Amino acid sequence: MQVVGFRDYHKQAKRLAKQLGVKYVEVAVHHFPDGESKVTLPNTLDAEIIICRSLDHPNDKLIELLLACEVARQQGVRHITLVAPYLCYMRQDIAFNSGEAVSQKIIGQWLGQLFDRVITVDPHLHRIDNLNQAIPNTEAISLSATNLMSEFLANRPNPPLLLGPDSESEQWVKQIAEHTGLDWEIAGKQRHGDHNVEIMLPKIDFNDRIVVIVDDVASTGRTIAQAAKQLKQAGAQTVNCLITHPLFADNAEQVLSNACINHIWSTDSINHHSNVIQLAPLLAKAINA
Ligand code: R5P
Repeated sequence: MQVVGFRDYHKQAKRLAKQLGVKYVEVAVHHFPDGESKVTLPNTLDAEIIICRSLDHPNDKLIELLLACEVARQQGVRHITLVAPYLCYMRQDIAFNSGEAVSQKIIGQWLGQLFDRVITVDPHLHRIDNLNQAIPNTEAISLSATNLMSEFLANRPNPPLLLGPDSESEQWVKQIAEHTGLDWEIAGKQRHGDHNVEIMLPKIDFNDRIVVIVDDVASTGRTIAQAAKQLKQAGAQTVNCLITHPLFADNAEQVLSNACINHIWSTDSINHHSNVIQLAPLLAKAINA
């Protein structure tokens, strides 16, 4: 068994290989001036491989995965696992307006055809509770980073109050609170557009509290920024945030910094300087199970 990585996620893929005690090999990708990708695999692949690549900024990556899988199969690889700590296209799970593509279903089915096993971490599943409903006809494994997040938070010098910024975050916040014994609260959220979010804080006393906002994804950063601004107005002493998937689109970090967030912490599901939690042990355990 080998771990097959790509340059954009090589540190995490190498850590996974090390954790599994197997060899790491890398796919060479050349981007032509017109935007097409040339994908070259090593020609010494084992019968079983693990392709480790997170699927943020997914469009090129999905095509490159398709090309890589085809070459691997031609070379005689019989079992291919995709380890994608961030799994793309999971949010659109129904058509809100006629004509909208339900990307979760379409991309999920496609991944199910390409791979013998798909492993991801805390995918954004709204209306379904099993990853196999999104990725059928394959072994689909959904892991959670909450235990690792709990360990990280349990080692903070002052016990913070955990705040989930919306009802969807409750599943993660509650688990972390159960593991750590930390106090927790959930805010209400209304999204009026990609960059326009309204947060309704719970009616408790935030004065002088150290608060950590916990969420699965930060994309535009508006959800966390709005929550942080209100916490500050309500008297919170310090506001930090802990995110599973630090997507940080466009000026999201600036938006968070303007909202007086002290620390941004994240898992290494996506490469970012805020990464403080490595997922390799969690992923390796699932592969070895
Ligand atoms: C929403 O359901 C998610 O859990 C996140 O709260 C959301 O995706 C964050 O998006 P943004 O950073 O753009 O506000």
